[in-house]
Amino acid sequence: MERSIEHLFTNNKNWSERMHSEDPEYFSRLVNQQSPEYLWIGCSDSRVPANQIIGLAPGEVFVHRNIANVVVHSDLNALSVIHYAVEMLRVKHILVVGHYGCGGVKAALFDNRTGLTDNWLRHVQDVRDRHDSRLAQIEDPKLKVDRLCELNAMQQVVNICQTSVLRDAWARGQTVTVHGWCYALEDGLVRDLGVSAGCREEAVERYRDALDKIL
Ligand code: CO
Repeated sequence: MERSIEHLFTNNKNWSERMHSEDPEYFSRLVNQQSPEYLWIGCSDSRVPANQIIGLAPGEVFVHRNIANVVVHSDLNALSVIHYAVEMLRVKHILVVGHYGCGGVKAALFDNRTGLTDNWLRHVQDVRDRHDSRLAQIEDPKLKVDRLCELNAMQQVVNICQTSVLRDAWARGQTVTVHGWCYALEDGLVRDLGVSAGCREEAVERYRDALDKIL
């Protein structure tokens, strides 16, 4: 039996009324412009909602999400989002947010076949294979997944810093910092992975330092 989605309209109506009563100018202000300072690149996982986690209202964070928060050099979708965020919206920070216990990362780590998604998760397996010896030292499967979640987010920070978008932005003197975080479902807290970078050289340096600290 098909489940009704009528309650979604009710929710929406209630939300709209609540927002309007709290701030009558709220919607008219947002209609005219968005000027977020942050671009969030996270996992599509329903438990990792961008705005709520960092306590920001609509209009305050530009969002891109995909399975396992991957940024691939040839992904026109992600690149367009990054381009728009950096060049048009002039965001000051790009947050790459992995999350512990990520199903995509887990499937990639253990080679669990899921179908079409396997091809996408090959990118996470590239990260896995690059850190083969590091991961081999971890016995506990849960900890192994969590470590790959961190390594994956760190890698995506480096990938973003290598894009033409960021290189051009930095070359013209624009200030934009790329950060790597990992979010814990258990306590709702984000952990900074220590790879924040404001230029390409810094990205590589911070990435190496962070790896040294891991093992
Ligand atoms: Co995930």
